[in-house]
Amino acid sequence: MIILDNVSKSYASGQPALNGINLHIKQGEFVFIVGNSGSGKSTLIKLLLKELEPTEGKIIVNGKELGTMKRKYIPKYRRKIGVVFQDFRLLKDRNVYENIAFAQRIIQTPIREIKKQVPRMLSMVGLAEKYKSYPKQLSGGEQQRVALARALVNNPDLLLADEPTGNLDPKNSWEIMKLLEQINKKGTTVLVVTHNREIVDAMQKRVVTMQKGIIVSDEEKGGYIYED
Ligand SMILES: Nc1ncnc2c1ncn2[C@@H]1O[C@H](COP(=O)(O)OP(=O)(O)OP(=O)(O)O)[C@@H](O)[C@H]1O
Ligand SMILES: [Mg+2]
Repeated sequence: MIILDNVSKSYASGQPALNGINLHIKQGEFVFIVGNSGSGKSTLIKLLLKELEPTEGKIIVNGKELGTMKRKYIPKYRRKIGVVFQDFRLLKDRNVYENIAFAQRIIQTPIREIKKQVPRMLSMVGLAEKYKSYPKQLSGGEQQRVALARALVNNPDLLLADEPTGNLDPKNSWEIMKLLEQINKKGTTVLVVTHNREIVDAMQKRVVTMQKGIIVSDEEKGGYIYED
């Protein structure tokens, strides 16, 4: 589902952020991306979202080459990808229900479908009772669960999570990771960038380790091998 073929990305100054990355990820895989700060993990996520263009190389997602994708097709492409960030990025002036419904409105989902799907997603993340709450009335873990529900409500084939537990305590981190695993078991391909050693070691998933823009290890049922 994802192919990176000799992908490099240089920003205006300094060393390349990514330097000749080759990576294949199959439909339905669960992959951790780990590596020191500055090793290029977020750059990789942004390339997959087509927020950035590679300086060199080719990226193919779901059979589509991102480099030749027409500009007008980009929103449609992004709608098929769920994204979760460290800082949740919820709409502060909308309640939980509206935050999730919003993701469906922008793709013109019929209202009766929204009314069905939003409660379903909220139950999945264990927040059915909080649908009227505003983000500031929720704990960090709860906010991240709302963000996850929003990322998944349009039923994406691919979920990209860039340090989804970066702002959470261990208990909430585990809850989010267990949800990601559950989602993956239902067929969504999941890519998780994380610095959480304990979780990576415990979950026994594929682990891609990056260092200075290069993949230095890629292991099935891997562990967290680099030193911070
Ligand atoms: N917009 C930018 N302009 C210039 N350089 C950038 C930009 N974004 C990232 N970089 C540089 O590219 C390199 C990779 O950054 P990236 O954000 O991908 O790292 P990361 O692995 O996600 O790190 P972290 O674990 O701290 O989030 C770093 O050296 C960073 O300084
Ligand atoms: Mg990052």
